[in-house]
Amino acid sequence: MSAAHTTLRPLMSRKSGALQGRISVPGDKSISHRALILGALAQGKTEIAGLLEAEDILATAGALKQLGAQIEKTGECWVVTGSGLGGLSEPEAALDFGNSGTGARLMMGIVTGHPLRAVFTGDASLQKRPMGRVLDPLKKMGLAVEEKDRNTLPLTLLGASNIVPIRYRLPVPSAQVKSAILLAGLLAPGRTTVIEAEKTRDHTERMVTYFGGSIVTREGAEGLEISLEGQTSLEGGPVSVPGDPSSAAFLVAAAILCEGSAIVIENVLINPTRTGFYATLLEMGADIAFTNERDVSGETVADIKVRSSRLKAVRVPAARAPWMIDEYPILSVLAAFAEGETVMEGLSELRVKESDRLAAIVSGLRACRVEAKADGDNLHVRGARQVSGGATVTAQMDHRIAMSFLILGLAADRPVIIDDATMIATSFPEFRRLVEKLGGSFSEPDPLSPHREKFA
Ligand code: S3P
Repeated sequence: MSAAHTTLRPLMSRKSGALQGRISVPGDKSISHRALILGALAQGKTEIAGLLEAEDILATAGALKQLGAQIEKTGECWVVTGSGLGGLSEPEAALDFGNSGTGARLMMGIVTGHPLRAVFTGDASLQKRPMGRVLDPLKKMGLAVEEKDRNTLPLTLLGASNIVPIRYRLPVPSAQVKSAILLAGLLAPGRTTVIEAEKTRDHTERMVTYFGGSIVTREGAEGLEISLEGQTSLEGGPVSVPGDPSSAAFLVAAAILCEGSAIVIENVLINPTRTGFYATLLEMGADIAFTNERDVSGETVADIKVRSSRLKAVRVPAARAPWMIDEYPILSVLAAFAEGETVMEGLSELRVKESDRLAAIVSGLRACRVEAKADGDNLHVRGARQVSGGATVTAQMDHRIAMSFLILGLAADRPVIIDDATMIATSFPEFRRLVEKLGGSFSEPDPLSPHREKFA
């Protein structure tokens, strides 16, 4: 696991020619976490095809195994043999979620409804991230936390078998918090209701329904009300995990920026709560098209065709943020090449991701000589046809910052180095191989003269 890595692995990208080819990206991270977790709570076997085999997901699988779940890889499939609602047991050692906020927060939900004690921990980035947003509602349901005054990992959690359902209005738009409450609600008697003012990704709701659970979503006076009937058993079944649109976004961006490119990415999830980035690209004038739309295991997928395009700046409304929250770093890179000033509004949540992404984007863009500023919760990026590059960008233990600036380097005048590529393995271990397969150019920088190309 990445948690304690000490050796930095810098990586450099340089201006590349046309990208060409037909590829698929690894499985969706959000759906992969949920397939493992719901599989463990269900009755019978859940056979998962296309599970994302990245560190974040392997950490969730490891934690579930420590809680007694049976998970093994058989051929191409991961098979979870469910222990039914309430069937998990106390772990002997701490549960280490590495870099994964989703893994840690969703698993807090299921620990809430089991009478066990578990220590939750993670890497330096995860230990800085706010857990109060998820602990507050879970405590109302019956979770106890030994470290009374702390809201960051490591934390010792005490679940219970007699938890209660709640009705809870989310104070921040967060699918992780919503999902943790719903997962705890599976183990509580009666109806658990989460109310969200802005709709966030709904994979938990879809998969619970797919496994035979009872969830009803309706528009209420305060927003969308998601009500789950607890203690209704789930039946495991086959799950086919679609390609991750958040990973595909990096390849889409690369193809848009590298002149003469034409690529197809097959089998990408196009759940509307995840496609804000693609809607924004269409507004910016990108040449992308969705074909071969179909339904798989309760989700919709399509193939995405992308050609290189000249982009124009746009204003991205705050209301779209939950539907593209992970894509702002790569959208900012695209904005750096677009004509005019792109303004992305309402990005406070970016400050509490794997790094303070608002700050990381601004400082990375400025290092690459792009005009960028954070104005409160809004991000402004002034684009230009040519971007200088020629910088070393600090990845801040954040996979999406690392990948975004490597993509910038594929189209900038001079190479871009990121100080550490290690964290890319948390969500997209095949990133380098896939970009290279399409024709992108990466290399390890010369440690003695990292930017020598800029003088060539
Ligand atoms: C996720 C939800 C999002 C997202 C994360 C995955 C999920 O976080 O940033 O990468 O799988 O539920 P928030 O719900 O905290 O915004």
